[in-house]
Amino acid sequence: MNFNGSRFDIQGINPLDLCEQYGTPLYVYDAQIIENQYKILRGAFADVSRLRINFAIKALTNVSVLKFMKRLGSCVDTVSIEEVKLCLRVGFEPQQIGYTPSGVSWSEIEEAVRLGVKVHLDSLPLLERFGKAHGANYPVGIRLNPHVMAGGNLKISTAHERSKFGISILQLDDIQRIMKETGVVIEGLHQHTGSEIKESEVFLNVAELIFDAAKNFPDLQYIDLGGGFKVPYKPHEKGTNMPKVGAAIAARFNQFCKDYGRDIELVWEPGKFLVAQCGTLLVRVNVVKHNPSISFAHVDSGLNHLIRPMMYDAYHEIVNVSNPLADKRLYNVVGYICETDNLAEDREMPEITEGDVLGIQNAGAYCFTMASNYNSRVRPAEVLVYNGQAHLVRARETWDDIVRNQIEVEV
Ligand SMILES: Cc1ncc(COP(=O)(O)O)c(C=O)c1O
Repeated sequence: MNFNGSRFDIQGINPLDLCEQYGTPLYVYDAQIIENQYKILRGAFADVSRLRINFAIKALTNVSVLKFMKRLGSCVDTVSIEEVKLCLRVGFEPQQIGYTPSGVSWSEIEEAVRLGVKVHLDSLPLLERFGKAHGANYPVGIRLNPHVMAGGNLKISTAHERSKFGISILQLDDIQRIMKETGVVIEGLHQHTGSEIKESEVFLNVAELIFDAAKNFPDLQYIDLGGGFKVPYKPHEKGTNMPKVGAAIAARFNQFCKDYGRDIELVWEPGKFLVAQCGTLLVRVNVVKHNPSISFAHVDSGLNHLIRPMMYDAYHEIVNVSNPLADKRLYNVVGYICETDNLAEDREMPEITEGDVLGIQNAGAYCFTMASNYNSRVRPAEVLVYNGQAHLVRARETWDDIVRNQIEVEV
């Protein structure tokens, strides 16, 4: 969403018109921003001859967004069999789908094999069982845990020593034993350090660890270095310097391929970098309450629709779409949920009055996909704006959705 000096717009569309047409709360995604981010990413790694981008779909699973990603040339990373099926449904080929679950059942792994997708195993017991079941018949990837602490906060740091994810990089001997005993072919090394990593050095250090481990695996087709690129959330904040990371890793990866003896694929699987900034959650102010020490703007949404502020202490910039040029005052923007659900605290914003529409920015990644029906509220509609046209891509839920699977018994 841009501010054009007098009002906000999304590709020329007034967000207030979208609220009029589709109601609030409303998630709106700008396809142009997704496309720009995709191009920046590919551009950063232009020196890598075999590059693959797997959009981490958990960030935003709307099928129309997935179709758009496919048209851009992206492949996908999934973490559940349901996500795999969504991607197959929108037309991705099985081999364009990476499947990187954490501690799922054996039957789910077997289903992924039947569907023919690229499986990443994240534990020694699963690798051993997989090797015994498939031997050399189904080459597989493994997720390594390189023991690196990085990321915006502990909850989104996924490669440190105490993290549940991946096979410890200190257990390479066990992996080798399983390869020998079962004949399993390891075609991919995967790792994901965490989310919101700004420092270029982290990406480089982790890459070095994985390149070093890769010498032990003669059959590699790809190395997947995960996602985690940071985008700015706060005003004046800086994201990952993509040209810097891209140039440094491309050079190092190309050298690795030379030493390894052949060109393999470099894979990245970003979520936030591709879709965080495309999204705005439009909400309407129900009540403005001036307490002696603090003013609250209560909106028609809450942690049921956007849990990141309460779950991760995440910052989302919030603008007053209805009244952007009013004098500024201090507010806590809060939801209508029956527990503390601050969306913003002590935020200076143009004066808010009842009925105003606020725009919660950077609401593309891990926002709708983490929404729930808590307090028996329906989940919002979603709109995708492409080429100056707004497309409804998910209808707002209804009362029927709240009661559909409930079974009334008298006990
Ligand atoms: C395995 C894996 N890959 C990629 C990602 C995407 O991370 P990000 O959205 O920070 O790029 C995640 C996020 O949780 C993940 O768990």
